Amino acid sequence: MSLHKLFVISLCFISTILCSYRNAIVHFDLKGAPPKVAYFKQLLTTIGDLGATGVLLEWEDMFPFKGDLARVVNGNAYTEENVIDILQHAQLLGLEVIPLVQSLAHMEWILKTEEYADLREDERYPMVACIGDQRSLKVVLDAVNQIISMHSKFSSKYIHIGADEAFQIGICDADKEVLPIKYGNDTLRMIFDHLSTVANNVTREYPGTKVLMWFDEFRSAPPELVQEYYLNELVVPVAWKYTANLDKDLPEQMWRNLSYSFKEVWGGSAFKGADGPSAYWNRMKPYILNNKAWYLQNEKHQHLFDRFDSIILTGWQRYDHFASLCELWPTSMSSLALNLIVLSKFHVDDETADLAMRTLNCPITTTLDQLLAGSDRCRFPGYRVRDAIRDYIQLKNFFDNSTWVHNRENGWLQSSQMRIAASNPYYVDAIGQAYGRTLKKLDTIIKNLRIAMDDLFFEDVAEEFVVDIIMPFYDDLKRRSESVSRIGTKRSYIPRPWFGNGNGNNRAARLK
Ligand SMILES: *[C@@H]1O[C@H](CO)[C@@H](O)[C@H](O)[C@H]1NC(C)=O
Ligand SMILES: *[C@@H]1O[C@H](CO)[C@@H](O)[C@H](O)[C@H]1NC(C)=O
Ligand SMILES: *[C@@H]1O[C@H](CO)[C@@H](O)[C@H](O)[C@H]1NC(C)=O
Ligand SMILES: *[C@@H]1O[C@H](CO)[C@@H](O)[C@H](O)[C@H]1NC(C)=O
Repeated sequence: MSLHKLFVISLCFISTILCSYRNAIVHFDLKGAPPKVAYFKQLLTTIGDLGATGVLLEWEDMFPFKGDLARVVNGNAYTEENVIDILQHAQLLGLEVIPLVQSLAHMEWILKTEEYADLREDERYPMVACIGDQRSLKVVLDAVNQIISMHSKFSSKYIHIGADEAFQIGICDADKEVLPIKYGNDTLRMIFDHLSTVANNVTREYPGTKVLMWFDEFRSAPPELVQEYYLNELVVPVAWKYTANLDKDLPEQMWRNLSYSFKEVWGGSAFKGADGPSAYWNRMKPYILNNKAWYLQNEKHQHLFDRFDSIILTGWQRYDHFASLCELWPTSMSSLALNLIVLSKFHVDDETADLAMRTLNCPITTTLDQLLAGSDRCRFPGYRVRDAIRDYIQLKNFFDNSTWVHNRENGWLQSSQMRIAASNPYYVDAIGQAYGRTLKKLDTIIKNLRIAMDDLFFEDVAEEFVVDIIMPFYDDLKRRSESVSRIGTKRSYIPRPWFGNGNGNNRAARLK
């Protein structure tokens, strides 16, 4: 261990305030499964009780935008009264509330529409706005100002302007026109000019508001360029990464680079929504590893900055506006609870987990292992949805593990046998019964899941979840079950061959 590293660690020992995070901000990604107001408020209460200091609200298309944007908001969007209700509740709990409005990329919810399609950077992709076009700036400033004007009715010290994953740039006609004239063909200059205009607008309209943004555009930016557009003064970068090996993925030099321009930096970890775009069970372990790594990053690199004491625990609900749902809130409550402990104490043991378990309404016999495995009987807000999803997983596992069924399927219920409904009932009758039992249990699970989900979310969530996650399994069982029934009605067969030889199709047809 280097002397330098020893020094940092010893400082952490002397003063706990110096190390680990003072502010833990929990992200709501409302582009998927936005909670109904009552559930939203329950979540805020639990989040506060678990020790988070604030929330980051990424409203996306759920905010009651007025004017032009009103044309493209979500049909389920919150009303103004809903938003006030939510923000008031958060304020009552003493939570810092930070709105997030995308200002460069991830503007799918706007750019996907016919109304705004001509503002795309690349006309084929509805992600990045054509920032060379002044109309894009107008839309962004409109969204930013509507959101911040609502939030400023409550205490509101920050706004996050997104700006991650700008995968296309310099493609639209307007960009091509201004790039050589204003930016010496440097697309990063154009991006910085845009972001600086947005940040400037916020800072002028709402003095004292700090502007946060994801660090993507700063990763390989020359510090002189950052300074030329005053971004070092106008914004605070949020470095995000959801892996376990942050030493590799966020190398020392990256932090040094950031420190040349910025006095303050924030971190961005994950407690859900970063373990595969269609994951529906929170495996927790990858998130625990990620947050442990973030704890250490803070220890290692905070000496480079005046302030590195805030972290956003992201909770993605879709990878983008078009992506499938990933882990829902109810499957991720324990992950949030444990990762908040990790960020402040690094280690989680039975003792540190105790408060979390009480907050999550766990039976006193609950163990940390149960919590980690999701096999607990805790009754936090939304637990019925978690329980129903867990029931589904257990049933699916049980079926997948029923080797005797699959052995028989391999011998007597292949696709060809199902196509022509020809097999030996001696072998398929029993698996038909297994299908029937499983389908019946699935019917119950789907019913429970829908009821529980409709309590928490708008009805499109249950529909999407059932169609994507459960129906492929359900439909396969149904198809197999029907084949077994058809086979059961057969009393005799024509001689083989049943396929091929030119007239095979006819033979197959006669077999039906
Ligand atoms: C910018 O690119 C255009 C087209 O490629 C070129 O004609 C022009 O000289 C470039 N301008 C600068 C300042 O590099
Ligand atoms: C900020 O943007 C809004 C919305 O476009 C505009 O009305 C306002 O004048 C701008 N303020 C400044 C200081 O540029
Ligand atoms: C540090 O910044 C320079 C540009 O100033 C860039 O070339 C380099 O890749 C950056 N290093 C890391 C690790 O981000
Ligand atoms: C299914 O098998 C896997 C691997 O052997 C095991 O981990 C899992 O617990 C089993 N599940 C059930 C429900 O039997």
